[in-house]
Amino acid sequence: MSENVIYSINGPVVKVKNASSFSMLEMVYVGHAKLMGEVISISDQFTTIQVYETTTGLKPGEPVISTGSPICATLGPGILRNIFDGIERPLKAIAEQSGAFIEAGSDVDSLDVGALWDVTVTVKVGDQVKGGDVYATCPETDLIVHKCMIAPGLKGTVVEVKENGKYTVNDWVVKVQDEQGNVHECTLCQKWPIKTPRPINERLPISIPLVTGQRVIDTLFPIAKGGTAAIPGGFGTGKTMTQHQIAKWCDADIIVYVGCGERGNEMTQVLEEFSELIDPKSGKPLTDRTVLIANTSNMPVAAREASIYTGVTLAEYYRDMGYHVAIMADSTSRWAEALREISGRLEEMPAEEGFPAYLPSRLSQFYERAGYMKNLNGTEGSVSIIGAVSPQGADFSEPVTQNTKRFVRCFWALDKALAYARHYFAINWTQSYSDYVYDLEKWYDKNVGPKFVSDRQELSYILAEEAKLNEIVKLMGPDVLPEDQKLIMEIAKVVRVGYLQQNAFHKDDTYVPMEKQLKMMEVILYLNKKCQEAVAQGKVVRAISETGIFEQVIKMKYDIPNDHIEKLDTYYHDIDEAVKSVA
Ligand SMILES: Nc1ncnc2c1ncn2[C@@H]1O[C@H](COP(=O)(O)OP(=O)(O)O)[C@@H](O)[C@H]1O
Ligand SMILES: [Mg+2]
Repeated sequence: MSENVIYSINGPVVKVKNASSFSMLEMVYVGHAKLMGEVISISDQFTTIQVYETTTGLKPGEPVISTGSPICATLGPGILRNIFDGIERPLKAIAEQSGAFIEAGSDVDSLDVGALWDVTVTVKVGDQVKGGDVYATCPETDLIVHKCMIAPGLKGTVVEVKENGKYTVNDWVVKVQDEQGNVHECTLCQKWPIKTPRPINERLPISIPLVTGQRVIDTLFPIAKGGTAAIPGGFGTGKTMTQHQIAKWCDADIIVYVGCGERGNEMTQVLEEFSELIDPKSGKPLTDRTVLIANTSNMPVAAREASIYTGVTLAEYYRDMGYHVAIMADSTSRWAEALREISGRLEEMPAEEGFPAYLPSRLSQFYERAGYMKNLNGTEGSVSIIGAVSPQGADFSEPVTQNTKRFVRCFWALDKALAYARHYFAINWTQSYSDYVYDLEKWYDKNVGPKFVSDRQELSYILAEEAKLNEIVKLMGPDVLPEDQKLIMEIAKVVRVGYLQQNAFHKDDTYVPMEKQLKMMEVILYLNKKCQEAVAQGKVVRAISETGIFEQVIKMKYDIPNDHIEKLDTYYHDIDEAVKSVA
């Protein structure tokens, strides 16, 4: 067999002429530096490879070596607390080895091969095992127990086990003989091709919310565990902030945060912030249940394409252990731009705005990997995907936003005008939606209270009425409205400012438990009811407003700390008194 050598180089795209041995999506080593690459097209003349590292200095004639397997993620203990690049190379370890910059082809292991894990073997000789079964566990961090699972597809009998004790990721702890008589050494880690979803037993119906502690999300536009959401918004409207808030506070067990093509300093900020944060539920550092994938705008473009797949593969792996995982991708637009750049260099026929024709299918393949699953080993786990979209000029009609919309069931449209008015979250309540409410109703009834669903409907109704009245007010001014409609405008303001607006930097308001969300809604709706009665008796809205009761209710989010939500009950009395005092 003749040696395969580079024929041409165009940015991250390398061609080999008359190659013989390659297969599609195979991982290859390119050049003397052994850069990581992937075969993306094969024709009778050329094999085309995209290279995941910078190709500066690469020359025609250098060898291309096949590996026979697709690009894989290494899955095992040591993923959490780590920071990887798009192809799962640990940035810290790379920095130690080669200075602050990643050297091309630097050959580092994904996981720390020297670290010793405190392993408990959970099978014994003679046990029948199959893909997904747990054969060993170890505490990966203070918060998360890592479960080593038989690779999907393998089935057989345990023929040898190690004693419980300290092992590295590459030590075998169990040997399994399959039905053909081959013996497999099961170490603490395994490989999985990043572009293939990990197999499951069954997709389960959506029924539990991913509680974020952010009122506009939890109450109006909830995302489910196993659900998908998109956050489209122009520059500075709060996409990153929204993702940070969810990453910090949502009730997932594990967070995978993919910083994709955004500025490097923003990623540094994420790292600093996350390492300081304490998990509210456990009192331990948040990093104990977080993995970061950083592929900033100055890193190679093809690795940016891979970062999304790497992230979701890690997420699926922890789901298989029975955990609830939330993955944030910031931003999927930068990822789509990477697709566009590579597609352009391949001289493919461009579709809308230069994006390749396969953009929709790539987006759907990504979002389809979300779900609430019954795993191979019988446990249940979920992957929820939250993708930021940054359309040029905040124009939601562009292809990435439009195509994303087809595949997600939650749409949190960020609004420039709201952000400009410092109404955060700048989630526009007339453009946003969640398709999950119906699936979650039973959960709310049981876990929050039977009134949650009807209260949130009433809140939406008030906002919708206000939107209608706004049209009239725009034309003729607020004075033409009859008293009952003036009241709607006042109450809607209480909903917007007192409820939907939420300050990420305020110690109590940054996270609001569901019980407090319900109680706050109850207070606002009680205010509405009492004022409606008063207006029916001929009292005027301005006079009620002058008592200061609207302002008081608006401020309840700051005045009532999260550990004293029973104090919200005092508002009923105050509302009664205020309304009574109006002549
Ligand atoms: N929920 C929020 N609470 C307070 N401030 C916010 C909130 N969301 C956004 N901001 C403000 O808006 C700024 C820009 O938000 P950012 O998330 O970086 O925007 P984007 O990622 O869309 O460009 C933040 O630095 C912060 O000052
Ligand atoms: Mg951002």
